[in-house]
Amino acid sequence: MDLEQLKKEAKNSISLIKNALDLEQWRIKYLGRKSVLSLFFNSLTKLPLIEKKKQGQKANEIRQILSSLYDGAKKNIENDFSSSLDFIDITQPGKKIHYGHLHPLTLTLSDITNSFQKMGFSIIEGPEIETEYYNFDALNIPAGHPAREMFDTLWLRSNNKDKFLLRTHTSPMQVHFMETNQPPFRIIVPGKCFRYEATDASHEIQFHQIEGLMVGENISLSNFKAIIEEVVKDIFKQKVLIRFRPSYFPFVAPGVEVDIKIKSKAKNQKPALRKIEGSKIEDEWLEIMGAGMVHPDLFKRVGYETNRWQGFAFGLGVERIAMIKYHIDDIRLFFSSDIRFLEQF
Ligand code: DAH
Repeated sequence: MDLEQLKKEAKNSISLIKNALDLEQWRIKYLGRKSVLSLFFNSLTKLPLIEKKKQGQKANEIRQILSSLYDGAKKNIENDFSSSLDFIDITQPGKKIHYGHLHPLTLTLSDITNSFQKMGFSIIEGPEIETEYYNFDALNIPAGHPAREMFDTLWLRSNNKDKFLLRTHTSPMQVHFMETNQPPFRIIVPGKCFRYEATDASHEIQFHQIEGLMVGENISLSNFKAIIEEVVKDIFKQKVLIRFRPSYFPFVAPGVEVDIKIKSKAKNQKPALRKIEGSKIEDEWLEIMGAGMVHPDLFKRVGYETNRWQGFAFGLGVERIAMIKYHIDDIRLFFSSDIRFLEQF
């Protein structure tokens, strides 16, 4: 065993080592229990005493040299690591943490649904893909009925005898729900709707509605008015004027449109997040929903006992409410993904 040769080799290889992992490999190879040096020590037992002493001393010297080489290299690696910490510039300004937040429509949807929940309404959801039957026929809008003109429909290709479409309103859920539930009940159905329309500041091909349906004995339009007054007050956090205008929807009789007016003297309102010059949102009548008393045809269609039940239904435009609440003048902003718009909420 050439101890001098071993020392030379160990010295050369440790000088190339730059990281702790390689150094550990080196330690195992030259100082470990199975290293050449350890095996050499083991073999000494077979030698005569004088020879054993001489060789042992030499090997011990080598071991000490290798150990101090190891200690030195270890220190260097550690120093290197801590000196790299000196390069962190602690005077640099901290990085700003970006918090996520909710989309204005999500905020408005949850405001409205919370208000209705407080009034005892349950939340139901329904499919965005509907059949022609539920979207139209079951709501007294058969093929050829002029009311179909109100709904520019996105039809889906299908081979069935049922024609599929993207729901143009949330009203089909009235029929779905009544088919499987008996009165009395009060529900709301929030959801996305679609219309094949040219977009402009007040029209989008996708938008949200909240459908409402309350059926029981002796339910009247004045019950509806009382509930809507409470909900609107809760949503806008101030008193809001309400008026009904006669209107026509084939699935209700009578049908109305509901307008609200926000008085501008209510200055305690949260400052508008997006103030519009000459905004016409205050002191103007603004339409927010269609509504009416459920048409007896619908009760008949779902197999309800006739003349026993009465109810009101309504369909509320969520974007419309959000636009009024936050003074937003263009519906297209909601789906624009424009970060400058979204960051204001
Ligand atoms: N579905 C109607 C629309 O999209 C809105 C509507 C009107 C819903 C009257 C109703 C209702 O429930 O009773 O224009």
